Amino acid sequence: MRTDDDSWDITESVGATAIGVAAMRAHETRRDDAVFNDPYAAKLVAAVGSDGWNTIMAAGRGGGQTGSSFINGVMGNFLVARTLYFDDYFAKAITVGIRQFVILASGLDARAYRVEWPSGSMVFELDQPKVLDFKAKALADDVPAVDRREVPVDLRHDWPKALRDKGFDPDRPTAWLAEGLLRYLPGEAQDRLLENVVALSAPGSRMALNIGTGNRALSKEMRERRREALAKAGIRVDLEELWYPWEGRTDPRSWFAMQQWLVREGDPAALLADRGRVVPEEALADMSTHILMTAIRPRGDDTL
Ligand SMILES: C[S@@+](CC[C@H](N)C(=O)[O-])C[C@H]1O[C@@H](n2cnc3c(N)ncnc32)[C@H](O)[C@@H]1O
Repeated sequence: MRTDDDSWDITESVGATAIGVAAMRAHETRRDDAVFNDPYAAKLVAAVGSDGWNTIMAAGRGGGQTGSSFINGVMGNFLVARTLYFDDYFAKAITVGIRQFVILASGLDARAYRVEWPSGSMVFELDQPKVLDFKAKALADDVPAVDRREVPVDLRHDWPKALRDKGFDPDRPTAWLAEGLLRYLPGEAQDRLLENVVALSAPGSRMALNIGTGNRALSKEMRERRREALAKAGIRVDLEELWYPWEGRTDPRSWFAMQQWLVREGDPAALLADRGRVVPEEALADMSTHILMTAIRPRGDDTL
């Protein structure tokens, strides 16, 4: 059960969801036909020391052990597509000259280490203090490819002050990312977070996010299969226990449009198809329950 002020380390509650996403990135990176390369993901997952996640991350193509074929072969597709989408988002932000980047709920995201950031770039990573500590220790021997600044916060509270205190400049255009975050926030905390992002965004800033709508009948069966597959690997994470409801929550697409930001949705299935990846029917159904989007605060000549 969630409470308004709960907190966690990497092995507990919402923290553990970051391991699952990193395990998918590690699994994808190990494929012969990998569509991206995250060499830090396996190291981060291994540092957790969980037999279950180690098994899932290391399973052969399509899985085959301890439920991993469903996790990697079906559920993993959306996570792979979303990684591609957000990697591309940062690449475009770099191309248009943005040099200030904020990763909200960075978890085990290793982009600060693996992206080719232009000189003068700054990446702020915000997450719970113990999650940031875990990553810093696990990657202690690695050098970030950018001026990386940790901002230990609870994103339901007053994080903008902590961000500014670390050197964030609201007068510079910023590329924000909220990957795998919003459903872990109560609806009103999501509203405040988005309002803060807009208030801190100079013209030319952009925001990318995803959110699971979980409002299609089919997803109930998928949820049960996911729970069973994880349980077979000895992992007990029940996302629905950790997520706050979609119903009654602000839809970020219409909300950003109302702020006069340009909004465009990503198509996860098309992203994978473009890379020649054949996606199983049931994975397509799962993907249709997620929104991937980018919004830009225009400064005249911006395109998505
Ligand atoms: C599913 S993981 C995603 C991590 C990362 N963005 C990725 O895609 O690999 C969710 C992350 O959100 C963070 N998170 C959720 N609610 C938070 C809050 N209220 N304050 C700070 N971090 C939060 C968790 O600690 C966790 O790292």
